[in-house]
Amino acid sequence: MQNSIRDKKSVIYLIINKPVKDAVKIQCMFSSIAPRYDLLNRLLSFGRDRCWRKFAVNQLPRTDNAVFLDVATGTGDIALEIIKQHSGNTKVTGVDFSSQMLELGRKKIANLGWQERIDLRHGDANSLPFEDNTFDGAIIAFGIRNLPDYKRGLQEMTRVIKDNASVVILEFTNIKNRSFGKFYHLYLTKVLPLIGEIISGRKGAYRYLSRSVLDFPETEELKAIMLEAGLREVKYYLLTFGVVAVHVGIK
Ligand SMILES: C[S@@+](CC[C@H](N)C(=O)[O-])C[C@H]1O[C@@H](n2cnc3c(N)ncnc32)[C@H](O)[C@@H]1O
Repeated sequence: MQNSIRDKKSVIYLIINKPVKDAVKIQCMFSSIAPRYDLLNRLLSFGRDRCWRKFAVNQLPRTDNAVFLDVATGTGDIALEIIKQHSGNTKVTGVDFSSQMLELGRKKIANLGWQERIDLRHGDANSLPFEDNTFDGAIIAFGIRNLPDYKRGLQEMTRVIKDNASVVILEFTNIKNRSFGKFYHLYLTKVLPLIGEIISGRKGAYRYLSRSVLDFPETEELKAIMLEAGLREVKYYLLTFGVVAVHVGIK
């Protein structure tokens, strides 16, 4: 027990002090904040995260008997939103590499009685455990910036969807509007890590979040990566003064 606490502390120390993108460290960090993840999402986004997810899910195709893939599903909020927006025959498979996140997601889904329609599985976004051309659409919300190779993750999502199906990405952006940009930068680098730390009790975890947002490609750059990954007709929408963007591309 003592050892596992020490391990977590040292992993978080490494995350704060080194600009690493090591899958094990990221996995450990998400597992450590899992119990407070949903609460912090609502608080830190001033409740906007629900609208962002709604908008992103709305970009998925409307297909009868569809099966969608939610990559980096976390506690399953996107999967739940898909079920809310789509008819009774639609199913969702969620994949994530944090068992703690998945466990909380499964409880939430079972409480709502939707376990027949949502299947959460352990898996890595860099090497998705599915056959080619399986899904009617794939979505990733606040997950892609954690991947070591964005293009590789997108190629994987593209591989597992059917022809003419779409990939949807919901992610934070680096804001362009200057005056709001300054406020946003301050919020992202100072306020958010502090609140995140107090509520999650995990030093440094939310500092990783701000750094990963600031390191993430600009919207046009992400569009280019999607095209390189094999998607076409890529477009994007900016929401809440450009705090987040929803990119959509077709296979
Ligand atoms: C910020 S959370 C987003 C969760 C959820 N999509 C949402 O909208 O709230 C990021 C999630 O990505 C997962 N993740 C990060 N890298 C991953 C990878 N390589 N494979 C699978 N899941 C990954 C983390 O475990 C975490 O649950």
